[in-house]
Order: sequence, then C-alpha cells, then structure tokens
Amino acid sequence: LSGTKYGCGIGGCGACTVMISTYDPVAKQIQHRPANSCLLPICSLHGAAVTTVEGVGSIKTRIHPIQERLAKCHGSQCGFCTPGMVMSIYALLRNHAEPSMEQIISALDGNLCRCTGYRPIIDSYRSFARVGQYFQMCFLFWDSRWSLKRLSLPEVSAFGKSDPFTFQIMAQEQLRTLIFHGKRTTWISPTSLNELLELKAKYPKAPLVVGNTSVELKKTHHDAYHPIILHPVRIPEMYVVSSTDDGLVIGAACCLAQLRDILMEAVPKLPEEKTKIYQALLQHLRTLAGEQIRSMASLGGHIVSRGSNWDLNPVLSVGKSVLNLASEDGKRQVLLNDQFLAGCEHADIKPKEVIVSVLIPYSMKDDFISAFRQAESQKNALSIVNSGMRVLFSPGTDIIADLSILYGGIGSTTLSARKSCEKLIGRQWNDQMLSEACKLVLEEIFLPSSAPGGRVEYRRTLLVSFLFRFYLEVLHGLHQMVRTVYDVDSGQSPQDPVGRPIMHQSGIKHATGEAVYIDDIRPVDGELSLAVVTSIRAHAKIISIDASEALRVPGVVDVVTARDVPGENGKDEQAYAEEKVICVGQIICAVVAESVTQAKCGAEKVKIVYEDLEPILTIEDAIKHKSYITEERKIEKGDIEKGFESADEIIEGELHVGGQEHFYLETNSVLVIPRVEDKEMDVYVSTQHATDVQELVASALNLQSNKIMCHVKRVGGAFGGKITKPSLFAVIAAVAANKTGRPVRFVLERNMDMLITGGRHPFFGKYKVSERRSYFAYPDGDQSQTGGLKAPSASLRTIPSCVVLSIHQKDGMSSKRTWTGWRGGPR
Ligand SMILES: Cc1cc2nc3c(=O)[nH]c(=O)nc-3n(C[C@H](O)[C@H](O)[C@H](O)COP(=O)(O)OP(=O)(O)OC[C@H]3O[C@@H](n4cnc5c(N)ncnc54)[C@H](O)[C@@H]3O)c2cc1C
Ligand code: FES
Ligand code: FES
Repeated sequence: LSGTKYGCGIGGCGACTVMISTYDPVAKQIQHRPANSCLLPICSLHGAAVTTVEGVGSIKTRIHPIQERLAKCHGSQCGFCTPGMVMSIYALLRNHAEPSMEQIISALDGNLCRCTGYRPIIDSYRSFARVGQYFQMCFLFWDSRWSLKRLSLPEVSAFGKSDPFTFQIMAQEQLRTLIFHGKRTTWISPTSLNELLELKAKYPKAPLVVGNTSVELKKTHHDAYHPIILHPVRIPEMYVVSSTDDGLVIGAACCLAQLRDILMEAVPKLPEEKTKIYQALLQHLRTLAGEQIRSMASLGGHIVSRGSNWDLNPVLSVGKSVLNLASEDGKRQVLLNDQFLAGCEHADIKPKEVIVSVLIPYSMKDDFISAFRQAESQKNALSIVNSGMRVLFSPGTDIIADLSILYGGIGSTTLSARKSCEKLIGRQWNDQMLSEACKLVLEEIFLPSSAPGGRVEYRRTLLVSFLFRFYLEVLHGLHQMVRTVYDVDSGQSPQDPVGRPIMHQSGIKHATGEAVYIDDIRPVDGELSLAVVTSIRAHAKIISIDASEALRVPGVVDVVTARDVPGENGKDEQAYAEEKVICVGQIICAVVAESVTQAKCGAEKVKIVYEDLEPILTIEDAIKHKSYITEERKIEKGDIEKGFESADEIIEGELHVGGQEHFYLETNSVLVIPRVEDKEMDVYVSTQHATDVQELVASALNLQSNKIMCHVKRVGGAFGGKITKPSLFAVIAAVAANKTGRPVRFVLERNMDMLITGGRHPFFGKYKVSERRSYFAYPDGDQSQTGGLKAPSASLRTIPSCVVLSIHQKDGMSSKRTWTGWRGGPR
C-alpha cells in the first residue's frame, strides 16, 4: 500500500494518518478515531479495524468525495501530505456526518502541509460543514460540473472495501486476555481491573501503554526498552465518566479528544461559576498537539509522564484535581499537586499502583482560573512555556484567600511558585500586588542562563507576561481575539483565472494515496537497504574504519566506503568522506543489508577512530581563521568616501540571521537499480536537479552520462533543499549497487535527513549606511554566509555610491543548500 506516508516518525506531521475503529466497552459501540500510524504499536491493533487511504477510495474503483473535493479544490501540490489530510477528514465524517467548521479545522490540526497553504485544503472541506457554514467557496462554485452535495453517514462510509466492518468480532475479542510474545518484549492486554492490578504487582516496572505517545518518544530519543508492556484499554473502570457532588470523574484511559468532548458537553449544562477549570482545560485541549495525538494520548498517560511542557498538568494542579489510585493493596486518593508533579516520594504514585480515574473538581464562585501557553505556532506545537493560575478571593472582596501559579517548560517538570503565592495571600488584587508578584516569581522560578532549551530571556519574559495577563483577566475579564480570514473576492469574474489554478494533474492520485513516491516503489528482486554511518566529529582525521563487527550482523551484505568509488567521489563535496571529516553528519560509509533494520543495526556496529582537528563552528570563527570557500566578491559603484564625507547621518550595525531547515515532507530518497547490460543504471530519486544526479552518478562510476537513466516522477516537497544533496545520496546508493550488483534503496529517516543536509545558510552582515537629505543612501556592506555559493544580488540602481563585499565562509557545519524561498519541485 503506497498511501500512508512516513514524514517524521514521531507523531508531528500527520502524513501517516490512518483511521482506527475500536469497540468502546462503556458506550458499547464502535468508535472511529484518526491516529498517527508511526506511533501505533502493532499489538495495540488486535481486534481493531485499520482503514488506510486505500480503503477510502481509489482511481481503480471509485474516488471518495473527500478525495475528489481536495483534488479539485487545489488542496495538494507535491501531494505527500494529502493522504493524511484525507484520513483526518474521513475519520471526522465517520463520527460526524455534518461537522461544524470548528470540527473540520481542528480535525486538520495535526496535519502539516509545506507546499499548498491551508486555505484550499480547508476550503475543500467546507462543503461537508453543517448547513449555513459552507459559504465563500469561490473555488468550488467555479467548477459547475462538480456536485457540492453534503453526504449522509452511510454515504461517507459507502466507499472502500473495508465496509461494512465486522465489528461483532471485536466485541468477542473483549472477553479474553491477550498476550503477545516478541523477541525482547511481551505485551499483555488484560480484561479486568483486578487482573491489571495483579499484573502491576508482578511487574511493577512495566509501563501502562495507552496512547504510546510518550513511551514511544522515549524509545525513539533515549532508546528506552521495556521487557513487559501492559495495555489497559479494555478495562471499563478506566473509561468511566461520572458527575459527582465535587466534580467530574474521568477514566484515566480516556483520550484527550474524549476529555475535550466530555467537557464541551458538560460546560453548557453547569452553572458558569462551576466550570472555570473546565474552560481553562478546554482552552488547552483545543490547541494541544493535533487531533491524531489528542485521539491517542490518554489523560492518565499525560498526568504520569509529566513532561515539562505538557499543558494540562499545571491547570489540573491549580484546580486541585485528585487521582483515584488502585493497587492490589486497595484504593487511595492523591492530590495532583506540585509535589506529585515533581515526583516527591511521599506524594507520588507507587510502582504497583495505577490511576483508575481523575476527579476534576468544580470551581467556586470567587475562583478565577486561567491557562496560558506560548508555542511556536498556535496548534500542533509543544509549548515553550505554559502555565495554570488560580486565585480565590475572600467572599465579596478583592483580598487573595488562595493563590496557585504553576509553570511548565522551565525545569525538568512542572514548577510551582508556591512560596511567592503564600507571601501574596491576604494582599489586595492591585498594581502593587502585581509588581511584588512579578519580583517574587522571577526570584523563585529561577532560570539560569545555561538552562536546557535555551531562549532564557524569552522564557523569563513569558513568566511575567503570563502573570500580567492573568492579572488583567481577573481584573477585566477575558478579552476575545478576533481573527480575520480573507477569501478571493466573490465578485471576481468567472473567466478570471487568478487564484483559480487548474487542478493538479496528480491531484486525485495524491488524495487516494496512489501517487507513487520513491519509498512507495515496490521492492525489486534482490533489493538491498542502505544505512549510512556519519561523522560525530566536526573536524577530524579518519584514522581507521573497522567494519568487521558490522559484517557479522545477520543480513548485512557489505560495507561501502570511499575506496569503492571507481571514479569521482562527488563534485564540490565528497560523497563518502576520504581522509578526514569536515562536519558532524558527513557520510563516512554505508552498510547495505537485506532489510532496513539490519542495515541500521550494522551501521551502529561500524567503529571509526578519529584524530580531532580544530573545528570552526561559527561565521565569526571562520572570518577569524580566513576560512573561505571563494575569493572575496565585491560590487562597487560611485565614490563611497565622498558619500560618507557629505552625509547628514551615518548608521552602522550588524545583522545575524540563523539557519533554517527546508523541511520538505518527503525525506531524501533514492532507489538505484543496476541493469543487466553495459553497467547501465536506473536511478529513481526525489530531486530538483535530475541532470546533476545523472552527471554525478556517471562520474562516480566512471561511466558516460547516457548510461545513467534518472527518473523523477514526483518530489514530496523540496523548497531548494533537493537541488544538490540528492546527487550525493544517489552516488552513495549507486556505488553500493555497483559494488554488490544488486538494487539499493536509500530512504533517510527525518533525523538523519536533518543532520546530513544542513538546511539553509545562517548569515552575518555588517553595514554602514550614510544618508543625505536630498539623496538615497550610500551603503558600505559586507555580507557573509556559511557554505554559500552565490553572491548576493541587489538592485543598486537607486543608490549613488556603494561597496558590497561578500565572503563565503567554510565552517565545520554540514554544507548548506539554497537559501531563497522559491518553491522548487512541487511547482
Ligand atoms: C507529536 C506530539 C505532540 C505533542 N504535543 C503536546 C502538546 O502540545 N501539549 C501537551 O501537553 N502534550 C503534548 N504531547 C504529549 C502528550 O500529551 C503525551 O505524550 C500524552 O498525553 C501521553 O499519553 P499516552 O496515553 O500516550 O501515554 P503513554 O505513552 O501510553 O504512557 C505514558 C506513561 O504513563 C503511564 N501511564 C499511562 N496511563 C497510566 C495509568 N492509568 N496509571 C498509571 N500510569 C499510567 C505509562 O506507564 C507510561 O509511563 C505531544 C506528544 C506528541 C507525540
Ligand atoms: S506523524 Fe507519523 S510520520 Fe509524521
Ligand atoms: S502538498 Fe502538502 S506537503 Fe506538499
């Protein structure tokens, strides 16, 4: 199946979205939810139905309206994100045949698109919205051949081979304990709470994996491994939802999307004064991660994993939530407070205990509770800093009776400004209190300049800025932000094509997942997978490469180094490092094996001995050491000295611009297939510069260019990042294919792609500009970029005199790619 894509592997992009259908033991009905398949353990899918984009519709049978509308509404360019978009909306429509616009937008929260822009994507789904909500669909009305009919629920699911689902089988699966034995891990899914508690007593270190969103990240980033995993998703007590005199009790296995829906239903039915904590939680639940993660991540998992910047914990804590715990020894309750979050032994959950449910209390009349988070984008981005704040006033006064302030994203876990709050009790809510509070909080929540995560000044600013906002909110009530959405003018002539491009030639195939990218090409006979070994030093001599252990890994066929390159080993940079490495992430050798896992395992076993040389890591360092790629380049015009002498004002300064990632959704990928005749090779590659691939591969193999057939069917995003580097990746794979005589596939994982490709250049510029009242300017500029190849081009026509000096530094970072923002391959 080619539809489900791999974009990041850590739940961040949504390219791998599928729909999971499971039986809800409490509601006794089937539930559909979107999920990031890259985080889904296979064992968690027993008894579940998985629908991929192929099950929604296909060119071969019939395309689904979701796919058709996305394609016709110009919702795809490179198309790599498109199957994920389709699946997110499909899962929504399976649950809500007539969703609101808010539901449609939040269903797409977890899907990144790097090429298209979100408006056409959202526009294409407006047509499914509740009556009265699908206005301003200029793109849709333009094509009169297209039916805009909304769909009934049977119509939504009437496509695709997996319908109707055989859900009765799932119900029967609820009755027995499931145990899966793997090579290293045993997965146990009990059916009752007692059984779970027995297992937890027997295996206290075993994690309770529910959404796996936190456990999997630890596995990916820290190589965490668990011999036993408990999977408590079939235990009715852990899905309980009940309303008590004190508040709402929510089962710990309920996912965050369920929690949002429960609170949204509860809030309008309750007196407003009781709902302040629920409203604060809802504010975060609308922006936290994407819908896929919200549909997987559980409330219990969120609380126990206690990530420093997890958003709900500070709010649950200020709201005095209570954890209902159970173990073989009985039941007890603990307060979800700062001490629990800090993992203090007396306040923490014990290894044999599980959280069965969480009591989230009602707020009181004199309570004010607010939630804050600042992230790099409004949705689907972890908070840089977050906070939960609560103040309780003495009845009828503005005297503080109780105050709690918690911050996330500052330390290794959520931190409380407990001492500051204690000092402020009894104070009036006024400006003096605010000044004092800011001073106290900054003293208590100390962030050293070397704090992990950097951006210390910014984070310190956020501490007080949240406090200031809370002060104002309590003082004046919540201010509402108004957002404006611009659409193409509805009066635009139907003949005017501006803003109405014709449908992408592959649009339908993007939407059905039938568009084939490199990694989707079916394995060819005898194909090998390739994994690279990269430098861990910024600048060093390679003393030795020991591949003996790697060659003993089962399935490993060969290890390829620079010595195996029959011709030129790259052009401006080496494909395989030869005697020395000049940056971290430089490719030293490649391991080819029967499977990707074996190749990666082999790559880990290659031992490289380095002799360190002095690295140059910054532009300033490179200037100091005169480490330049090219001669200095200069553009001169007019008499600069005269200009400065007659100036009314001279301005000078420096400018720093950091590097950037290109972040195309499809990582660099190449498949090389040797032909039987004349050493010819087919190179399937995701590139913006096919000629360069052909020339470099030919010169590396000492062949004429016409022996190398370079195929670029489509590129899953590029943005300048796939102009030069794919040629080197193609050389890496082609040399391996040449050596082994077998086809070789090389698909980079996201972390490797980011490590090796280097991204866009950072810049450092110095300028001196003079101004004369009657004239423009006289700039004397000096602009430096690392690893760059092009001189800056600027329009100097209006400037009477100038000197622009450009120097291209060579430093110990991966070489950079195109800097400009023009969009390459997809367009
Ligand atoms: C891509 C991505 C984006 C994210 N973005 C955000 C964000 O913007 N804001 C935010 O706040 N969070 C974010 N998160 C974090 C997310 O909220 C947590 O990972 C999630 O809530 C953990 O829940 P889970 O069910 O997946 O836990 P799991 O990974 O299944 O388990 C985590 C831990 O909790 C324990 N556990 C689970 N349930 C219980 C129980 N009932 N009793 C005892 N122990 C239990 C397990 O033993 C395990 O140690 C993001 C995560 C990802 C992957
Ligand atoms: S979310 Fe799974 S690949 Fe990105
Ligand atoms: S079309 Fe969305 S990432 Fe390219």
